Amino acid sequence: MIAPAAGAASRTLRSDPFSLGVASGDPAADGFVLWTRLAVDPLGGDGRGGMPSRDVDVEWQVATDERFAKVVKSGTATARARDAHSVHVELKGLEPGRDYFYRFRSEGRLSPEGRTRTTPQGETPLNFAVAACAHYEHGYYTAYRRLAEQEPDLVVFLGDYMYEYGPSGYTALAGRVRTHTPGKCRTLADYRLRHAQYKSDPDLQAAHAVAPWLVAFDDHEVENNWAGPVSSTGAAGFEQRRAQAFKAYYENMPLRRASLQGAVLRVNRRVSWGTLARFHLLDTRQFRDDQACLDGVRAGCDERLDTERTLLGSEQWRWLESGLDASTTRWNLLGQQIMVAQRDFKVGPGREVNLDSWDGYAAERTRLLGSLARTPNPVVLTGDAHMHHLSELKPDFDDPDSPVVARELVASSIASDGDGYRDRTWIAEALQENPHISYIDQRRGYLMARLTRDELSVDFRTLDYISRRGARAKTAHRVTIPALTGEAAAGKAAAPRTTG
Ligand SMILES: [Fe+2]
Repeated sequence: MIAPAAGAASRTLRSDPFSLGVASGDPAADGFVLWTRLAVDPLGGDGRGGMPSRDVDVEWQVATDERFAKVVKSGTATARARDAHSVHVELKGLEPGRDYFYRFRSEGRLSPEGRTRTTPQGETPLNFAVAACAHYEHGYYTAYRRLAEQEPDLVVFLGDYMYEYGPSGYTALAGRVRTHTPGKCRTLADYRLRHAQYKSDPDLQAAHAVAPWLVAFDDHEVENNWAGPVSSTGAAGFEQRRAQAFKAYYENMPLRRASLQGAVLRVNRRVSWGTLARFHLLDTRQFRDDQACLDGVRAGCDERLDTERTLLGSEQWRWLESGLDASTTRWNLLGQQIMVAQRDFKVGPGREVNLDSWDGYAAERTRLLGSLARTPNPVVLTGDAHMHHLSELKPDFDDPDSPVVARELVASSIASDGDGYRDRTWIAEALQENPHISYIDQRRGYLMARLTRDELSVDFRTLDYISRRGARAKTAHRVTIPALTGEAAAGKAAAPRTTG
């Protein structure tokens, strides 16, 4: 079929333009962002989703009921061709702490409906999911579907939403279940096309439609293990490629307009859930120094201990530290990409660490842990590792008497690395080597957390396979972290209770 001609003469789209679904994000007490991107042919090779080169009007509606009998806000946005026909509607003036339903209409076609929420006042409990790492080739997005079925109030996504590799550029143990769009992502068109492929997945669409998301990118939204302005391959022109990847990321995510600041994509930000909790989302990729000792999992790298090295960059570090010090919420949840806990990969004497994680930026980690020790009820939420982890964070991981200042919950991957497995010997050795880590699970999954004034209860959800559809999700492990107050909170974190 031939795409409609550009220009005012063409006023109808040839098929459903809402093939990429709908989404919402960055909730506040009085509003949120609504997102959609029009594409009549998501896999159209030029990354424009088969859309004409003209701008297209998109009407939107927000209602307090699922049947849209009580529409409380409505308007028209312009899906601009130069923004890949994406729409970001930032709403204000809504009531705190309630569900809203939204939908779009364009050229006679109606979008699917989404449900979203404003943040509450006070200490209203929060159910939230944590997810990361969704390599499309490695398996079906059943974990997204199961997450959606649990209807969380909020989804926190911590990076590797999409992968830049060409077909089979990164193979999983269980093989390839489906195939990436051609080539490694290099141009704006490549990134747009790849995002469209991912967004076409109905399970991913269901997870977006159920709740607002808080998203932050890691490396693969641009390229494996990049660092600040530096490509891990040393290829020239990386800053321009990064800017293209950022633009495509913004176009495809429910982010506020303020996040795209020229060549910078600003995702470090705070979102408060009443006085119960504040999310401090970090960017551990864009402002970091290059990995020490040429990156990788290595032993004997002194450069990683250099006190001048930074992961967050000085500006973000000041923003984080002052924000933690000033926080007045009961809980403080750090959402970030890479493992904070020390992780020795070498069984027996000696130590090998992942120089792409906080182990490669050890001095700044010590500063972070000092800051968390002064923060009310801090919990770190992490992605990247493709395995669930539960860890105690301590100023000195090698000292059994070092106080626990926070807990780190690492969400396994939605799909990356394919079908899960449990290698009990490997896990036992890893736990023995790292006594501050109490749980590891190599299966796919996500975290489902319930946060109240008194405790954070977290289910480590796992699926037995993703190479076929239909796996159930189960709670493989549960941890309950009690809140501390006053002097106890300033001293050390209380012992959690675990089951499973
Ligand atoms: Fe990943």
